[in-house]
Amino acid sequence: MARSRSAGSRTVSSTESKPDPKAAAAADPAAAREDAGLLAAVPFACAVFAEDGALRAANARYRAEFGELPEHERREALLARLRGEARDGARPREVRAPHSGRWYALHWGRAEHAGAAADVLTAVDISERMETLASHKSRQEKLLFTSRMMSVGEMAATLAHELNQPLAAIMNYVNGSLRLVEQAGGPVQVERALQAARTQAEHASAVISRVREFVRAREPRRDAHELARIAETVLELLRLEAERLDLRIELGLPDALPPVFADRVMVEQVLLNLVKNAIEAMREIAPERRELRIDARLNLDEQVEVRVCDRGAGLSAAEQDQLFSPFFTTKTDGLGIGLAICRSIIEYHEGRLFFEPREGGGSVFGFTLPRYEARG
Ligand SMILES: Nc1ncnc2c1ncn2[C@@H]1O[C@H](COP(=O)(O)OP(=O)(O)OP(=O)(O)O)[C@@H](O)[C@H]1O
Ligand SMILES: [Mg+2]
Repeated sequence: MARSRSAGSRTVSSTESKPDPKAAAAADPAAAREDAGLLAAVPFACAVFAEDGALRAANARYRAEFGELPEHERREALLARLRGEARDGARPREVRAPHSGRWYALHWGRAEHAGAAADVLTAVDISERMETLASHKSRQEKLLFTSRMMSVGEMAATLAHELNQPLAAIMNYVNGSLRLVEQAGGPVQVERALQAARTQAEHASAVISRVREFVRAREPRRDAHELARIAETVLELLRLEAERLDLRIELGLPDALPPVFADRVMVEQVLLNLVKNAIEAMREIAPERRELRIDARLNLDEQVEVRVCDRGAGLSAAEQDQLFSPFFTTKTDGLGIGLAICRSIIEYHEGRLFFEPREGGGSVFGFTLPRYEARG
């Protein structure tokens, strides 16, 4: 074969301290042309590295795709720059080039080049495949989440419907019995027991109507909405409650806040729940310490972040663990559904609901929402 014949004439000794590929090519221009011709025929980025890691030859595609990387002429330096997930400690085969953001599948082969052993690298651009994979994955996750929401919603609707009738009957019987006992003037223990039963039944029906309210609003319509309008609606609903506690709600919303991509009613529900919790957390503290702020900003991920800050007692570590579990409540009149609903709604919007202690005492409950311009 012509290849092996010419190779003999340009043997590069492996004991040479730093072989210079340009010098080798200059020494045998015919062989260099042959290399270039061979590599040019490869439809992927392709390069030959000597044993010591120095680049021997490369095609135009390799130069175009990796030439901008500093030290692309050294095998180890090049590999150190390409990032991928190594499995079982092995070298990663699928890597990303940081300068272009493109993904490559690397394949290494051993060959003889210029009379010495060499490693031949082919790098196949697999960016499109990786993008398709990533978009399938996020679509699947979204679908899974939506279907979980739907089935939970449907189950809740069925349960609420099924339980409503017997519960209404229980309330009727209890009320009727209470009237009879009251008319008969006792016994007082029975009267108290019936009153307690009525309170429990009322609690159960409050849970059901809350769930039904949530399920009814589950067909979401997302659009561009200004957070300021949402906050106005919520504050109007809570004005009386705040006045009764002599509590001023301060709003810190920047004028330039971009619109969010959200279902308005659902986000109102979230903010209402958080502000209500904040107000309730400050019922027991001295009026002059009561301070409620709603702040918003564009965070580092370019999402709109809303924070509801109070000066209540905050949360213990144990309470923080259970915070978002349905039916967790520390209030005698609480249902423990508020935060669980908030979380479902915010996650549906691909946002995040979070708690953090407030500096100087109190709690911060916050959530993020995507900008309308970034909807996808
Ligand atoms: N701002 C807050 N400060 C301190 N504790 C809070 C705050 N917000 C929530 N919590 C704690 O988290 C629990 C759960 O809140 P969540 O809103 O889910 O239910 P709830 O307020 O008890 O009842 P409801 O379903 O009527 O809202 C509360 O009972 C309270 O212990
Ligand atoms: Mg609540």
